[in-house]
Amino acid sequence: MSLLIRRTSFQSLQRHQEGITTSTGIRIRDGKLRILFYCLGGISLGYWLYTKSNSKVVAAEPSKLDIVTEESARLWHKTQRTDLPTYKPEQVQQHNTHENGIWITYGLGVYDVSEFAPNHPGGDKILMAAGSAIDPFWAIYQQHNSLEILQLLESFRIGNLERPEGTVIDDEEESSPWSEEPQRHALLKAASQRPFNAEPPIGMLGEQFYTPNKLFYVRNHLPVPNIAADDYELEIEMEGSSKQLTLKLEDIKALPKHTVTAAIMCGGNRRSEMTKFKPVKGLSWGAGAVGNAKWSGARLCDLLQAQGVPPNEKNHVIFEGADLDPTSHPYGASIPLSKALDPRGDVLLAYEMNDEPLTRDHGYPIRVIVPGTVGARNVKWLTRIVVSDSESDSHWQQNDYKGFSPSTDWDTVDFSKADAIQAMPVTSAICSPLPDEHIKVNDKGDIKVHGYAWSGGGRKIVRVDITIDQGQTWHVAELEQENIPDGRHYGWSLWTVHLPISKNQVGRNVEIWAKAVDSAYNVQPEKFENIWNLRGVLANAYHKVKVKIVK
Ligand code: MTE
Repeated sequence: MSLLIRRTSFQSLQRHQEGITTSTGIRIRDGKLRILFYCLGGISLGYWLYTKSNSKVVAAEPSKLDIVTEESARLWHKTQRTDLPTYKPEQVQQHNTHENGIWITYGLGVYDVSEFAPNHPGGDKILMAAGSAIDPFWAIYQQHNSLEILQLLESFRIGNLERPEGTVIDDEEESSPWSEEPQRHALLKAASQRPFNAEPPIGMLGEQFYTPNKLFYVRNHLPVPNIAADDYELEIEMEGSSKQLTLKLEDIKALPKHTVTAAIMCGGNRRSEMTKFKPVKGLSWGAGAVGNAKWSGARLCDLLQAQGVPPNEKNHVIFEGADLDPTSHPYGASIPLSKALDPRGDVLLAYEMNDEPLTRDHGYPIRVIVPGTVGARNVKWLTRIVVSDSESDSHWQQNDYKGFSPSTDWDTVDFSKADAIQAMPVTSAICSPLPDEHIKVNDKGDIKVHGYAWSGGGRKIVRVDITIDQGQTWHVAELEQENIPDGRHYGWSLWTVHLPISKNQVGRNVEIWAKAVDSAYNVQPEKFENIWNLRGVLANAYHKVKVKIVK
């Protein structure tokens, strides 16, 4: 796809048939531009960094490369460019439409991004920042701080912004949206710091049936809101009706208390395995983006029934969180009304996790728990519920957390054509031994292997099969699980198996495979190859761990 880029005073900005070359000799093609849009629009977090960035940056011959590091690139927007003119904020402001051209500022830099806006998906989003600063957007979307994106932005630079003397440009001001982030347990391994995303070490995950709150994985898309219990309010609305209900925390706590054991799993759990087959875009989660907890709170079905919500199967229940993006749009998601109204669906407005108040990272004071459903719909810091005839229009419902064919790529993907993930597929993981561990055979001539298994939609795990010889012999694991009827079996199952080791396996490397079977006799697929998808979600192929057997 060819690109039209306004020629700037940047002498070395060259036009190519399929891309541009920046002053640093890095060639960036169309995919990166799309990414920049989403950065600039500040809306499509979760998409912009992933969209088509793969293989779109081509380095020029090494001899022509300046040595540019991410650290030095982070200073560009704080640096006055002597080769460029200076503009007053009022001059920038005039460039806020397609007709007048679209300029934006970042720190001291003025950038002209007008000519790619109309030609790219999401281009209209840029108008929100047009004629003004993108700093507040980027203060939240910290992932833009990659070398490629900073280089791309600098390639659009046309000038310097005039600032009153003494203006300090610092991302780390006290007013930073990140200044009130909670303390986290040192053992959580962070996939990203801002927003905070982390999982516990896999070896610890299978140790306890209820995952300790402090070690429960955290998946945040935005800064964590700080809500005082007294200030908390939840609005409940029915679209097309003037009826509106506002509940305080004590009102929710006064409703009958219901407790359910449910595993919550991120749609991207085990993405790091899928990406080994072929790169995907997304946080590199191991098998620890899941946890099992006892959740307590009020049942949503009780609340909706009390409000006289009719059981229209076409309707949806939209949830909004208190975490806002820079355009004041909250994190949001929706589930079918039928799930919310079903007493066996066990959807909760939860205020306790494992008998303790929710922590801030997990949604204090109230989050929705949608058992059996992908983590993304379990909205934290819940502030609003709307019964509607359409799904949530949030980015995370519409343009993320959806599955695609292995042949769909970033050029052909159409998010509007795919269903939002709700119930999760059957999966399992080996928690012990760890990859590359040297395991001693015990006196009985076997090794102990254990892990977790879970399926969405309330489907109970009925079997976990383990092999150490590429599927020639399968061993059925013992299950530890709650005695709950199928269809409502929302907690995970822990499993243990003792694998007999033959003499010729001692001293050798072996690969352990695990596959789980749920109550609908759904079974995990063997390979990632046939379930690969560009966002790396629903990564539920056999879990395989290579170890060495020692005497
Ligand atoms: N709710 C809000 N308000 N904001 C979020 O970023 N992340 C969702 C969901 N609810 C999110 C949210 C996602 S993608 C997941 S996987 C789960 O929360 C993670 O829940 P946890 O952090 O309590 O483990």
